[in-house]
Amino acid sequence: MTTAGDQEKLAVARAAATLVHDDMVVALGSGSTVALVARALGADRSRARFAVASLATATVATTVGLSLVDDASTDRYDLAIDGADEVDPDGWAIKGGGGAHTRERILIAAADRFVCAVDSSKLVDRLTRAVPLELQPFALASTLSRLPGAVLRDAPPTADGGVLADIEEDLSDPAAVAARLDATPGVVDHGLFSPQLVRELLIARGDDLEHRRR
Ligand code: A5P
Repeated sequence: MTTAGDQEKLAVARAAATLVHDDMVVALGSGSTVALVARALGADRSRARFAVASLATATVATTVGLSLVDDASTDRYDLAIDGADEVDPDGWAIKGGGGAHTRERILIAAADRFVCAVDSSKLVDRLTRAVPLELQPFALASTLSRLPGAVLRDAPPTADGGVLADIEEDLSDPAAVAARLDATPGVVDHGLFSPQLVRELLIARGDDLEHRRR
């Protein structure tokens, strides 16, 4: 059965796909929204070239006929498209529900433009989810001792060998939490993405589409 949320996700994915032009090199993140973006691009026979943040996105992209670039030798992307788990009114986002946030941040940071595509369920008054973490497996116990409350995820290692965990935080000041996690040895990356990165939001709400730029 298709829910209203599924329809919003499809609508926002199709809208995001229209931003891609054939001469672009585009970064695609990970997750179900991005998978729908890839499918829409495949249906449109897009001739753009793509870098992807996860094996799951790579599988969908190649299955629908998209061309992939070598991320190791591509230094800039014209556009990055990705979803989010939560976005607050200031533009702070939590990403990494799928555990690909480290690679997603790398691709987004290398893009001239990032469009975050979300259905309306992702918009929240304040961030409440646990913050995803990717941790170095080396000396994991000492890293965890610096992260009270962090819970290891029952998930395989990331594509880069990282250990996934989630940590409940008071997110009334996301910048402070992000700075603390950035400064914690052993944390490869966390899922708090700042408004400086999340400048453009494409939102599907019912039958409406909103493109919010800051
Ligand atoms: C993947 O690691 C995440 O950052 C995704 O962008 C996020 O979890 C959103 O996923 P959906 O598009 O599946 O909701």
